[in-house]
Amino acid sequence: MRVEVLGAGIVGLAVADELARRGYGVEVVDPDPGRGASYAAAGMLSPSAEVWHGEQALLELGRRSLALWPDFADSLGVRVHCTGTLLVGRDAGDLQEVDRQAGLVDSLGGCVEQVDARTCRRLEPTLATVAGGALLPEDHSVDPRAVLGALLDRVPVQSTSRGADLTVIATGAVLPQPYAALVRRVSGEVVRARTDDPPRRTVRGWARGEAVYVVPRPGGEVVIGATSEEHDTAARVTVGGVARLLTAARELLPGLDRAELVETTARDRPGTADNLPLVGPTHEPGVILAAGHFRHGVLLAPLTAQLVADHLDHGHLEPTTDPRRLLEPR
Ligand code: GLY
Repeated sequence: MRVEVLGAGIVGLAVADELARRGYGVEVVDPDPGRGASYAAAGMLSPSAEVWHGEQALLELGRRSLALWPDFADSLGVRVHCTGTLLVGRDAGDLQEVDRQAGLVDSLGGCVEQVDARTCRRLEPTLATVAGGALLPEDHSVDPRAVLGALLDRVPVQSTSRGADLTVIATGAVLPQPYAALVRRVSGEVVRARTDDPPRRTVRGWARGEAVYVVPRPGGEVVIGATSEEHDTAARVTVGGVARLLTAARELLPGLDRAELVETTARDRPGTADNLPLVGPTHEPGVILAAGHFRHGVLLAPLTAQLVADHLDHGHLEPTTDPRRLLEPR
């Protein structure tokens, strides 16, 4: 069976790679490979820090996929940075956000340790004085551009479709018809900077009510993100968005003041009506979705690849991700 995967982001490439490993003839189609949302992504493998109320099913998917990441990364020759994530609150009001998130993670059975202000500074000596925090030891990170590079070395990509027996749609925030309305575009602006004073681990926090994360890479690059805005037009970098991110990041990590500004990027996240991804069959024979990953495309890529391949191999259906839950019955 010849399979065509539309979309060469981390999700599409991971699906193609897994299908090729299982013996399928696969082609990936993308006129601009690796330049969509995966290119902007900070690469947090962070089921806990990003979970929201009512998202138990998403948390479970995130945990399952996180468990697949070490082998997936090994197979690509990239590193997972297993340093955990520190949530911090700059002032007493910000600390309430930390406590709310920590309480939520705890109530969902996740691993979370409350830490006082002094311990925050011991864990991250470059932090400003903060009101307190919480450590999420299981939330890690990976460099999505390294992952994209490794996948693109293995998976050939064509710029136009040549037709196939089966199509997997993995085109992120812009799906072809009749699936376009299944996702809403939620733009995210991200700043990359280089510093000689990076945090040791991902720092996520609130500073005077503004949410921000700072994800370090080896070599001094930090990824500062991300704005979040629902809209109809394509994502773009705005002065206000970058200013808010940098102000919040510098409030938490004042040493960033001296960092070299390297890049600003904006891309759309593909949100769905229930914030769960769309992975599985449609009502159209031979058309499968691997889409709608919202804030979790990098985290959920290896699980998505397995779910698609398991569906092709033996018809496996994952009820929480089955796209037909959001499609009109035929
Ligand atoms: N997962 C990070 C973000 O969507 O901003």
